Amino acid sequence: MSIRLSNGTEIPIEMHKVRIVQKVRLAPARERLKAIEEAGYNTFLLRSRDLFLDMLTDSGTNAMSDNQLAAMMQSDDAYAGSESFYRLLDAVGEIFGYQYLLPAHQGRAAEHLLAKAFVKPGQVVPMNYHFTTTKAHFDLAGGKVLELYGPEALNTESTCPFKGNMDLGRLRDAIAKAGPANVSFVRMEATTNLIGGQPFSLENLRQVKALIEPLGIFLVVDASLISENAYFIRQREPGYENTSIRDIIREIMSVADLCYLSGRKSCAVRGGMIATNRKDLYEAIRPWLPVYEGFFTYGGMSSKEIEAMAVGMREMTELEVAGSSADAIKYFLSLLQEKGIPVVTPAGGLACHIDAMRFIDHVPQSEYPAGALAAAVYIASGIRGMERGSVSMDRDAEGNDVPSDLELVRLAVPRRVFTMSHYQYAADRLEWLYAHRRLIGGLEFREEPPVLRFFAGLLKPKGDWGAALAQAFEDDFGPSC
Ligand code: F0G
Repeated sequence: MSIRLSNGTEIPIEMHKVRIVQKVRLAPARERLKAIEEAGYNTFLLRSRDLFLDMLTDSGTNAMSDNQLAAMMQSDDAYAGSESFYRLLDAVGEIFGYQYLLPAHQGRAAEHLLAKAFVKPGQVVPMNYHFTTTKAHFDLAGGKVLELYGPEALNTESTCPFKGNMDLGRLRDAIAKAGPANVSFVRMEATTNLIGGQPFSLENLRQVKALIEPLGIFLVVDASLISENAYFIRQREPGYENTSIRDIIREIMSVADLCYLSGRKSCAVRGGMIATNRKDLYEAIRPWLPVYEGFFTYGGMSSKEIEAMAVGMREMTELEVAGSSADAIKYFLSLLQEKGIPVVTPAGGLACHIDAMRFIDHVPQSEYPAGALAAAVYIASGIRGMERGSVSMDRDAEGNDVPSDLELVRLAVPRRVFTMSHYQYAADRLEWLYAHRRLIGGLEFREEPPVLRFFAGLLKPKGDWGAALAQAFEDDFGPSC
């Protein structure tokens, strides 16, 4: 929620109080340099003790509510037939309107099950945009991901309210080319993660459904960030300004045939699920659940997390919870924009995204500008962000680097974790870094895994720019921060 102060400025306002805290430490720049060197200039490989603000992800890092923690105490650890499962099933029925539920240990496990059941070699999977783990699973099953976004999706300076919409003309052409029988399903990702947390509209979702239903193709929604997408629909789609988040989510689910999600985001737990009203789809996936995840009533999740998920699903429909990160992101983004820092607009649903190609336009894409900028942000601030660019793209079958559509540094905003002074600090250090951007150079790989290389790949700076940056920071701020 945002509130207008008497001087007219709008600030995000926390509709909760903080009752449990965790200490963080701000290591000096010299230590930060050493830590990033040891991590191979890959922020995934930094240790938590070396971080001031962990903005790597909003996944599994959200503050949980007192009611979620309380629910964990009543969990039923029965291997089969756990009451915790039935409580989650009730929540799925109440919030999504779906009667079939397949729990999974996290979002990518749900993607694995979908790939196993529905993606056959040679088939195509149209979507508004890919997510890293989605693409990895569908590729491994022999499918081909088709990204059918609209003309504004990759414009980082856009004002388009629904950059996550699918281009219907491109969808029609893609289906005609592949033949409907060769389309596994169509996937729409709520607040499209990799292009800046950008939502789709309900109108677009309905149009996609109307196009594919007569062809016998079913519609899958990746609902990991469903409450944020619903929040944006309420704010941006004409006719929904007075509709509750709960009703918008329900409407999205009534259009979709099946949804799957990572429970680590909107639901603020650690887990995942697939849910649907289509018995045929449910039955096609169900046999694989005990093979890969666990018995039907826990699917690899702990019963405690299942209980917390049931509560989290209901809480994410509250306006102030659904908008908690979106409003903080809007504020954080406005601070960065005031300082002239190139960011992705409009404000999205999971993070502030910095456009590395504009921030360090002297670093060519072949030298991984987003990876370099993520490392530089850490050196200059102790803040850990995530590279979302070419490092996050695996090589093609011929071993060539695949340049990413965008080179972004994601500064994720976990729900109800950071305060306004954290965003002000972050914006201040980014302003300093922007003024010193010429010091930042490129990166090259020194060790590179074959799949999802961004997780474990080791890189090194081209030239010793990390040390120069740390020195410049120390010259300006002194040795201790
Ligand atoms: N789909 C979306 C849209 C996601 O953002 C994620 C994860 C997944 C699927 C996979 O779910 O992590 O529970 O296995 N996104 C995390 C992130 C990793 O940091 O953005 P998971």
